[in-house]
Amino acid sequence: MRIECPPLPFADDALEPHMSAETLRLHHGKHQKAYFDKLQALVAGTDFADLDLETIIVSTAKARGAKPKAIFDNAAQLWNHGFFWRSLAPAGGGLPAALAQRLERDFGGFARFRERFAAAAAGLFGSGWVWLAERKGKLEILALSNAGTPIADGASRPLLTLDVWEHAYYVDYRNRRDQFTAAFLDRLANWDFAAQRLASRATAFDPAAPGAALRA
Ligand SMILES: [Fe+2]
Repeated sequence: MRIECPPLPFADDALEPHMSAETLRLHHGKHQKAYFDKLQALVAGTDFADLDLETIIVSTAKARGAKPKAIFDNAAQLWNHGFFWRSLAPAGGGLPAALAQRLERDFGGFARFRERFAAAAAGLFGSGWVWLAERKGKLEILALSNAGTPIADGASRPLLTLDVWEHAYYVDYRNRRDQFTAAFLDRLANWDFAAQRLASRATAFDPAAPGAALRA
């Protein structure tokens, strides 16, 4: 079994007051753990058992049938969460110059990017993920439902993500997804991570790896 449960790269109270320890304990310890446990049960004894997470996701992304769909959903959720933890930083942080320049070029500046990202989060019906990604050399915002992930078809390279499932914000913000999104964009987003992803040209990412978890 090569699948691992991505660790939190910071203490569970490190993002307070913007994201509480209670939220992180539930989100990481219960929700992510459930995806991990379900995935392990689904792939046990199958050819998937020895594959890495990204290969499982790509292999099942277009598969039909209840079991492959369940494998995709749980594998993608596990990968997305690992990417999400890296998209958060306890101290927030400024925008690296190289990323700021790209946001300027592709969105008309950070303010316009922020506006469009927030609108994508607000407009995503139900559960899902909002991504900053790069496609064909251009930055884009993707709003993907449920377990949607840019690595499923390899067309876009993810740089940063926000989990907009209710379990990500209901404890702290109740139904105010807009406030949660604002806290992410203004206080928690790990712009250094996004800039590293952009600079590294890496597509692959190992959510269970320690450190920056960038893989060329
Ligand atoms: Fe989540």
